[in-house]
Amino acid sequence: MRVSQILIGAGLCTGLLAWDSAALAQQQPAQRPRSDPGQVDARAGGSRFGDALPGLNAAQMADFAQGKAEFLNVEDVEGGLGPIFNNSSCVSCHGIPAVGGSSTTLVTRFGLRVGNAYDPLVELGGSLLQDFAIDPAAQERVPAGANVIARRQSTPLFGLGLIEAIPDAAIIAAARRPKPFGIRGRAAEISDIATGQMRIGRLGWKAQLATLLDFAGDAYLNEMGVTSRLFPHENAPNGSAALLAQFDSVADPEDVVDPATGKGDIDLAGDYMRLLAPPPRDPQSPSARSGEFVFEQVGCAACHTPVYQTGPSAIAALDRKPVALYSDLLLHDMGALGDGIAQGAAGPREMKTAPLWGARVSAPYLHDGRAGTVDQAIRAHDGEAAQVRDRYRQLTPTAQRQLLEFVDTL
Ligand code: HEC
Ligand code: HEC
Repeated sequence: MRVSQILIGAGLCTGLLAWDSAALAQQQPAQRPRSDPGQVDARAGGSRFGDALPGLNAAQMADFAQGKAEFLNVEDVEGGLGPIFNNSSCVSCHGIPAVGGSSTTLVTRFGLRVGNAYDPLVELGGSLLQDFAIDPAAQERVPAGANVIARRQSTPLFGLGLIEAIPDAAIIAAARRPKPFGIRGRAAEISDIATGQMRIGRLGWKAQLATLLDFAGDAYLNEMGVTSRLFPHENAPNGSAALLAQFDSVADPEDVVDPATGKGDIDLAGDYMRLLAPPPRDPQSPSARSGEFVFEQVGCAACHTPVYQTGPSAIAALDRKPVALYSDLLLHDMGALGDGIAQGAAGPREMKTAPLWGARVSAPYLHDGRAGTVDQAIRAHDGEAAQVRDRYRQLTPTAQRQLLEFVDTL
C-alpha cells in the first residue's frame, strides 16, 4: 500500500483530530517515504502530512504545538464568533488528510459586473458571503442585485511557511522570463496589511495576500467573525450597521495580545502554518518519471514551475531551502476558468497558478472544485493555458497516463 493511502485510511478510521502520526511511524517504519537522492527539498526528509518541518529546535516545536492547539480551537460566541461566520474553527475547513490540510467546503463570493468593471458590493456585505449567523435575524444572503456568484474551495496549508519565505524578487523575476505557448503571467503587487508595505502576494486562489499573519487575521475575521489588531472591524450582516450593532456584543478587537507571550491567536495560527511541513513526496515509478518529461515538454512546467528557493530566514528550516511547489505563484488570465471576482491585484479572469504539491490528496480540483480528477482539471484550463491544454489533449493515452501518474507523486 502506498503511504498516502495509509494516511488517508488511517485518518478516516481514527478521526482526523485524534490521528496520531507518530504511532504510524512506529508501526510502519518500512512504509515511510524514502529520500530520493535526486530530490533535494525538505519534502524528501520522511515527514508526513501534518507534521512540523524537519529540523526545528525545541522552541520552534513548542510554537508549532501551541499554534496547532489554536488552529484546532473551536470559537464560541463569548470568544467573539460571529455575528456572521462560515465555521467555528480553522481545522473545520483545513483538516484533510491531516490537520492543516484542505476540505471540500466551498465559500461563496459575489459581486456586480458592469461591462469590464467589477464592484464587490461591500455596502451589501460583499464580496465574501458568511453562510451562518449567531442569530437567524443576522443571516446573510446573496443580494438580489449580484450578477457574479463564485465558489471557492478551501486549500491545503502544508508547506506555506516555505512559500511565504520566497523573496518577492524571485517571483518578479519569474514574471519577466519569456514563456512558450502564449503564456504570460504577472506578479500580484499588493499592500501588506500588517506593515502597509508593497509586497508580492502568493497566498489564496488570487495571490491576494503575502504573509501567513495577514491570512490568519483575514480568516479569523472573515471565516469566523473574530476581530484582531489587523482586522479590528466586524463584517456587518449584508452591510447593515443596525444588525451589527444589535448582535455584536463582544468588544473589538476580540483577539487580544497576551502580554505574557506578546502573541494573539492570529500570531499563534501564523506560527503553526509557518512551521507546517510541505506535502511528502511519493516515490516515482519509471512510468511517473516518464510523465515528468511529458509534463515539461507539453508546457505545464511553464506555469507549474517545479521549484523556487527561499531567501535568508531566522528559522533554519526555512533558510535558503528549495520549495518544490510546482507553481510560479503568478497571476494568469485563465479565460473562461476565471471566477469573475476581482480581488487584491487580480482581475476577474486572473487566477494564481495552483501549487501541485500534495495534489494527490486534495481532490476535487480547481478554485470551485468543479474537477473530480486531475485530467478534468487540465481539460478545464483556458485563456493563457489554452495552447498547453490542447497539447495535452493531443498526447497519446500512454503519455497522458504517465503525466497524470507523475502529478500523483508530487
Ligand atoms: C469556512 C471554511 C474556512 C475556515 C473556517 C477557514 N478557512 Fe482558510 N481557506 C478557506 C478557503 C475557501 C480558502 C481559499 C481562499 C481564497 O483564496 O479565496 C482558504 C485559504 C486559506 C489560506 C491560504 C492558503 C493558500 O494556499 O494560499 C490560509 C493561510 C488559510 N486559509 C488559513 C486559515 C486559518 C488560519 C483559519 C482559521 C483562523 C482558516 N483558514 C479558516 C476556507 C476556510
Ligand atoms: C497558463 C498557466 C498554466 C498552465 C500552462 C497550466 N496550468 Fe494548471 N493551473 C493554472 C492555474 C491558474 C490554476 C488554478 C485555476 C483555477 O482553479 O482557477 C491551475 C490549476 C491546476 C490544477 C488544479 C490544482 C488544484 O489544487 O485544484 C491542476 C491539477 C493543474 N493545474 C495541472 C496542470 C497540468 C498537468 C498542466 C499541463 C497539462 C497545467 N496545469 C498547465 C495555470 C496553468
